[in-house]
Amino acid sequence: MRLLIVSNRLPLNGVQQNGKLIFEQSAGGLVSGLSAYLDSLKSTSAQDIEYIWIGWPGITVPDKMQPEVKSVLSDLCASPVFLSEEAMDKFYLGFCNKIIWPLFHYFPTYTVYDKDYWFQYQDVNKIFRDAVLEVIKPGDIIWVHDYHLMLLPSLLREKLPHTPIGFFLHIPFPSYELYRLLPAAWGNEILRGLLGANLIGFHTQEYAQYFLRSTLRILGYEHKLGQILSQDHAVKVDAFPMGIDYQRYHSIPSGSEFGHNLKELEQLLHGFKAILSVDRLDYSKGISNRLQGYKLFLETNPQWCEQVVLLMIVVPSRVGVEHYQQMKRQIDELVGEINGRFGTLNWTPIIYQYKHSPLDSLLAMYRQSDVALITPLRDGMNLIAKEYVASRTDQTGVLILSEMAGAAKELGEALIINPNNLEAIAGALQQALAMPETEQKKRNQVMQHRLKGYDVVRWSGDFIQELLQVQKDQFFTLPL
Ligand code: F6P
Repeated sequence: MRLLIVSNRLPLNGVQQNGKLIFEQSAGGLVSGLSAYLDSLKSTSAQDIEYIWIGWPGITVPDKMQPEVKSVLSDLCASPVFLSEEAMDKFYLGFCNKIIWPLFHYFPTYTVYDKDYWFQYQDVNKIFRDAVLEVIKPGDIIWVHDYHLMLLPSLLREKLPHTPIGFFLHIPFPSYELYRLLPAAWGNEILRGLLGANLIGFHTQEYAQYFLRSTLRILGYEHKLGQILSQDHAVKVDAFPMGIDYQRYHSIPSGSEFGHNLKELEQLLHGFKAILSVDRLDYSKGISNRLQGYKLFLETNPQWCEQVVLLMIVVPSRVGVEHYQQMKRQIDELVGEINGRFGTLNWTPIIYQYKHSPLDSLLAMYRQSDVALITPLRDGMNLIAKEYVASRTDQTGVLILSEMAGAAKELGEALIINPNNLEAIAGALQQALAMPETEQKKRNQVMQHRLKGYDVVRWSGDFIQELLQVQKDQFFTLPL
């Protein structure tokens, strides 16, 4: 058995170093979860299971270098999909991040319905289809990931009628009222594209229900307990809340880097209570609401001034999209305003970094922060919330989490807030900072138990098991 994982990006990132192209392994949750899952299968069933990851290598590779890159990557279980800058511009920045991303995150006014973006989206999905067909062998299973490749399942189904094909959406699926804002032909084709899969997974039951509602209203397909009989095969739609690599966050990393980071942070925070905020820069993450909430907290709780610090890490993302640039300016201004207004010679209310943070340093921040403040306006899941809880080895710490994040469905013991309610953010900060340790521990114990039980290994295992089961069952459920 071989698993072909298909996603827009490979878990390897191409970077130019001294005129040479090298590939760095990304430490993403999906890759570590899948490899742990495959290792666990190997050890329990002695089956030889491999995987190949198919995706864009993170950089435009000139034609003459492509054979060499292909061979380097094949040693790393990866098969690159080469895309020109123009294609990435219209497909990734355009259709994916100026149409689907804002619409599916309930920002319909940020969308740019440009038909060239749509044509490019169709073309790139076909390029991915060809890349899969180039490597597929009999007996392989295909698992397609995320909103960049929603046409791919049916493009593959046309060529591979009996191959198990799974699809997982990592972002929210919106309500029908939002989904129907897509031009009808596009919305139609995307639903049909997804229905090429045997199993379609979402983070929450709500997203799965919204998808089923759209397929009913737009395509007229009824479902029975999440099972749709599409033209020629059965499709199961279900929720698989993605987990994290629990042990990786719960244990002490080897190597001196982590200890060094921890010491540095201890010195920096010397006695202040720390509130942590970590996100990719994105308007859906509610970073400015968070800053406004923190400002209100300082205004209404002057006793906390010079006692608390907001440690805010913002990771650059999609810098080619205008709304991301605007967001960056807005955050810079707000941080400046709050630090200028409340700061003193001895105290800076917000320590702000706009850069990528390696895992060791992130883990040190999770361990050193008394509170994690996570306030997305809309988020498919939010794994940072789960990572923070998992990393609290002594079970102290308070998570404040937006009810608009998929993770809120599993982390009900956190302080759950509405991110549009600044008073609620300020109030939750006050409650979190004053919460007795016994209560913190009680809440975290329950959440840790849940996160440990349903980690990313279990998540991938459940998805693949279900995919194989649906494929097997369909011979009994298909109409003759
Ligand atoms: O949440 C969806 C997602 O595609 C993640 O898988 C990814 O980490 C993030 O958005 C950022 O993706 P990118 O930098 O490729 O746009």
